[in-house]
Amino acid sequence: MAILKIAKMGHPVLQRRAEEVSDPTAPQIRKLVQDMIETMHDAQGRGLAAPQVHVPLRIVVFITPEDLEFEGVTAIVNPVLELLTEERVSGWEACLSVPGLQGIVPRAPKVRYTGITPEGNSIDRTVEGFHAVVVQHEFDHLDGVLYPQRMDDLTGLIFESESRWFQASEDT
Ligand code: NI
Repeated sequence: MAILKIAKMGHPVLQRRAEEVSDPTAPQIRKLVQDMIETMHDAQGRGLAAPQVHVPLRIVVFITPEDLEFEGVTAIVNPVLELLTEERVSGWEACLSVPGLQGIVPRAPKVRYTGITPEGNSIDRTVEGFHAVVVQHEFDHLDGVLYPQRMDDLTGLIFESESRWFQASEDT
């Protein structure tokens, strides 16, 4: 296992569409997934997409609130996402490729996603809330989209060190 270098906003690998993985269970894919999980844990992130470690392939790992139900970390290859509502709900997001910042991003509150695991198992989940947000954020990385590009109002893009001002305004 190895901790990989994380690409930051501005690197071209984060701006292009990632390629389909032809053999999701190949040994080198499994090794990459293990390294991505280790890198995510080391960076204290909740999700990581392969382009964020400079690999332009359609692979994502993430930790959901249903950790136990889904056996900890989810790793998914060649995922397909379907938004199940017209409604959008805004909430704070952050990204390991946009360090130090956080932003208010509108997302669908309910989604369905499918894909395959590095073990060769099919995934087909319909999820809501934080799980739905994480999936939309991570899958966006595979299409070269970072969360600031999803924001309606860049006034809500702030440094985490200034988040107290937003907390205060919400409390009053
Ligand atoms: Ni991200």
